[in-house]
Amino acid sequence: MKQINIGILGFGVVGTGVAKLLIEKKSLLESRTGAVLNLKYIADLNTDSDRGLDLDGVELVNDANRVIEDPDIHIVVELIGGETIAKELTLKALSLKKHVVTANKALLASHGNDLVVTARKNEVDLAFEASTGGCMPIIKTLRESLVANDIRSMSAILNGTCNYILTKISKDGSEFEDALKKAQELGFAEAEPSLDIEGHDTAHKLAILNSLAHGMEINLQDIHVEGITRVTPLDIEYARSFGYTIKLLAIGKKHGDHVEARVHPTMILNSNPLSHIDQSMNAIAIDADATGKTMLYGHGAGMMPTASAVLSDIADIARNIISNTKRRVPILGYPEDNIKPIPILPISELETRYYLRFTVQDHPGVLARISGVLGRQNISINSVNQKGRNEQGTVPVVMITHTAREEDVQNALSEIAAFDFCLSTPVIIRIEDNNGE
Ligand code: HSE
Repeated sequence: MKQINIGILGFGVVGTGVAKLLIEKKSLLESRTGAVLNLKYIADLNTDSDRGLDLDGVELVNDANRVIEDPDIHIVVELIGGETIAKELTLKALSLKKHVVTANKALLASHGNDLVVTARKNEVDLAFEASTGGCMPIIKTLRESLVANDIRSMSAILNGTCNYILTKISKDGSEFEDALKKAQELGFAEAEPSLDIEGHDTAHKLAILNSLAHGMEINLQDIHVEGITRVTPLDIEYARSFGYTIKLLAIGKKHGDHVEARVHPTMILNSNPLSHIDQSMNAIAIDADATGKTMLYGHGAGMMPTASAVLSDIADIARNIISNTKRRVPILGYPEDNIKPIPILPISELETRYYLRFTVQDHPGVLARISGVLGRQNISINSVNQKGRNEQGTVPVVMITHTAREEDVQNALSEIAAFDFCLSTPVIIRIEDNNGE
């Protein structure tokens, strides 16, 4: 049986999981791939801590260059994360004609186009199933299974930390900070939690999925991103009373010659299956022309689910090697010459429905003045909810609009925020319910 030599860069949580599978699932992997997947090296600055594995026959090294420069290594597995040293080592490994498997969504979202060019130049593979959605086989699904489909839309929960926090606030009445702390303890939050809670991690993943879905260059910078830090229990409660749930969604839609790509807290109907994806679970709903609607659901983070996705890439490359082939499936699902820079619709041009909440002094005529501004901006109101005033005489006014244009909504909100009776910044949450009005 052909032996494929593998070197792991980064012996953290996922690196440990990948080593565990390579060691403990050796015979299953051999019988499934027809190759010996030999873990030759693990590189990390910390090689002393006990990871609870029998590493007999594995060389633990501090210098990643030893792995990359070894002519016997076929596959380098980059699990360091971040965009600095990981980028340098990945580019070097590709340049030395090593196939690379990575779980690094930030690196792919920001530098993926360069990595693809380098992989092509050196005729090697770059695989990243673990970068998006953890164990859910979403990369393979878009790249291979849906090859005959135009992908009309993708709606996804791709960040376990945010989904966990929103679930804890809405179902257990937890405080935001307590829920975040717990997510960190459970090990799925990023080292820098703002990447999670400000929506950037979700945007990294959406940038990757958009490229695979539409054959477009990876474009992170034009994705509109908002996180969950301004979602309040009051808005969650209002959403519930209208039959909606608030989730941090990645939304990607194809419209002719451009795409819509946005990440923000979104109100979805409780009849939408994504509203039932709780805790740290991830899910993606894809609407494609031949298949209709398809959904994937699974653990988006964690040692073994993520390691499982890394192993699927290692197995693909090993199968290519033993079949004397490489780059059989294009890295981004389309041959590089067919990948185009498809523009992303500016958020100001978005048309959708909106939930708006104003905190106002309860005077006669306030509602009329708010509605007047909305009317002048062509925003039609579907429903209004005003509960009783509190002791300070303030009252939340909640409105659901019909389909409106984002720029008009933002202009209206700026105008309303300037009124004396408006006591805090108006809240805006976009609604995704197929304009089900
Ligand atoms: N911080 C990420 C999450 C890890 O919470 O989903 C997986 O990418």
